[in-house]
Amino acid sequence: MSLDLEKAKVAWNLIYNDLLVSDTKEGLLECYDRHAFRYDQYIKDIGYNMPAKTAKLLMEYGSLGPESEVLDVGAGTGILGKELHNLGYTGKIDGLDGSSGMLKVAESRKLYRNLVQQFLTADCALDIGDVMYDAIASVGVFSALQVGASVAKSLFNHVKTGGVVIISYRVIETTTSDSEFNAELKDTIKSLCDKGKASVIAEHSTDLYGVNFFAGDPSKPCPGMCLCLRKT
Ligand SMILES: C[S@@+](CC[C@H](N)C(=O)[O-])C[C@H]1O[C@@H](n2cnc3c(N)ncnc32)[C@H](O)[C@@H]1O
Repeated sequence: MSLDLEKAKVAWNLIYNDLLVSDTKEGLLECYDRHAFRYDQYIKDIGYNMPAKTAKLLMEYGSLGPESEVLDVGAGTGILGKELHNLGYTGKIDGLDGSSGMLKVAESRKLYRNLVQQFLTADCALDIGDVMYDAIASVGVFSALQVGASVAKSLFNHVKTGGVVIISYRVIETTTSDSEFNAELKDTIKSLCDKGKASVIAEHSTDLYGVNFFAGDPSKPCPGMCLCLRKT
């Protein structure tokens, strides 16, 4: 799908110069609240592709059916739920996010069973009760600015043995904290695997966005990664 570069540039500037601008993780959630009702338009304009790719991988590796229960961590406006629905998923999906504004939009899709508001901090447990999910996914949430790598460990406390965890994140490293974050995420996953708690199913490189204004040629996609894991 070809994107309108002018529109993409406007959306990109709104995302990187107006939305993702807080110095604190708490403040960032207020930014998401403010932008929630325009978020879907921004991400359409920049050709945000990771939720669609993640939904496909969930269906493929999670063997999901009508009885399945999926958790979307950092669900935002519920795009992953929409993508799963478009692929014919008829099971249950719950969402968790720190922004009430984003969750309001997700609720309006009427695809999620439960939506929980929680600010995720280092090593925190998830406030989702005792459901053990068949699959958990988190798209565009784990990053230096947002949710720290240590929270990846918590996801494994809420998925069944044999269940799938997919963490989809941007791999582009524009700052030192991006590089540190990506290294920390790798270490966290390695430690889970070394302890026999998880195994890597696959690492799928994907287009995060259809454009990349960080690079010299914005018409080339911005790279992302879908890290697909299994609880062992
Ligand atoms: C880029 S959006 C991605 C939303 C959705 N997964 C998608 O792909 O469209 C990041 C989401 O993470 C949430 N978020 C960021 N930091 C968070 C935190 N510390 N705790 C909980 N949610 C957080 C934001 O509210 C936002 O909805």
